[in-house]
Amino acid sequence: MKTRITELLKIEHPIIMAAMAWIGDVNLTVAVSNAGGLGTLGPNAGQVEVTTDVNETGERLREQIRQVRSRTDKPFAVNFVVGVPGLDREFSDRCVEVGIEERVPVAIVSQGDPRVYTQKLKSAGMAVLHTSSCVEHAKKAEDAGVDAVIATGLEGGGHSGFFEVTTFCLVPQMADELKIPVIAAGGVGDERGLVAALALGAEAVYMGTRFIATRECRAHSNVKQLILDSDETSSVAIRHGIRGIAGSGDRGFVDERRGILRMLVDDHIRETLEREGFTYDALAPFMVLPTPERGGSSTAASLVHGDVEGHAIMAGGQVVGMIKDIPTCAELIQRIVDRAEEVLEALRAKGIGS
Ligand SMILES: Cc1cc2nc3c(=O)[nH]c(=O)nc-3n(C[C@H](O)[C@H](O)[C@H](O)COP(=O)(O)O)c2cc1C
Repeated sequence: MKTRITELLKIEHPIIMAAMAWIGDVNLTVAVSNAGGLGTLGPNAGQVEVTTDVNETGERLREQIRQVRSRTDKPFAVNFVVGVPGLDREFSDRCVEVGIEERVPVAIVSQGDPRVYTQKLKSAGMAVLHTSSCVEHAKKAEDAGVDAVIATGLEGGGHSGFFEVTTFCLVPQMADELKIPVIAAGGVGDERGLVAALALGAEAVYMGTRFIATRECRAHSNVKQLILDSDETSSVAIRHGIRGIAGSGDRGFVDERRGILRMLVDDHIRETLEREGFTYDALAPFMVLPTPERGGSSTAASLVHGDVEGHAIMAGGQVVGMIKDIPTCAELIQRIVDRAEEVLEALRAKGIGS
């Protein structure tokens, strides 16, 4: 399957592993890239606890990049979160410097203004993909010179923008308005998702949640089991607020960071949120406190340390309901590609597209 994205990224299949912070580590990245997709190192990839040291953050990333290089000669990406000045921007700046020094082939830039890093990354020879959750931001990313936009729909795990637009609606509207290729993110979990995304105008898919339930993913077995036990209603989207930042609702880029955060919850948490509102404050009692023993981060506590009982699992999309097994990345990717052909044949047999 060839698209402008497979050509741009020099990959075999139009399947990209989404940025997934702690659990998007060397092992998963190498497994996806070696299987013909594009693997992605996330922030805090491979770590068990946070560091507040900017240089250490950079050196940890460098070590992960070098390990990837020692295990594959295929292309891979690093996720750079644009971040907020005074909050986490200096960590992002350092990671970008390290990515440039290490000649990373692909940058996936998320949660912020595309003008901040695009030209720097392009000058260093990287292909730059930028996540956007509305057409207006995607056009600004195109103007800033990115090579492709990742259309992040409401169904997706983790941050999915501010405007609550679903992948099904977002992808065609972006594809109509942009000259550069669009990649579909949010809710893609199998061959039908791939074919549908291509039909909507995307030229690749960007999958996060589905890759958690793979053999190579380091997510705690509690999290994988929870995914297998989940259905299409098991995730909720809350409003993620970073206090002290102006601009909520003004369509500024900071909104991407303030917006929707989708995660897995149990019935008790869901009922509480229904009663008290799907807000960050209502959720707070169900987040694991970011103690040092739990990695210093609520996300690490659930995903890496497996603290799931009675807690929100800090990321996971609506696609969980269709995940029924834990294959290797190679099995998963090959299955999606092979069965995509079968989906197209079945459509033709129904008289569609013949
Ligand atoms: C466990 C998990 C962690 C995530 N961490 C990040 C992250 O560090 N950076 C980022 O830009 N997006 C992050 N996301 C969002 C994904 O990159 C992507 O947009 C989303 O997974 C796509 O939807 P899907 O989960 O339905 O495949 C995360 C998603 C998940 C499920």
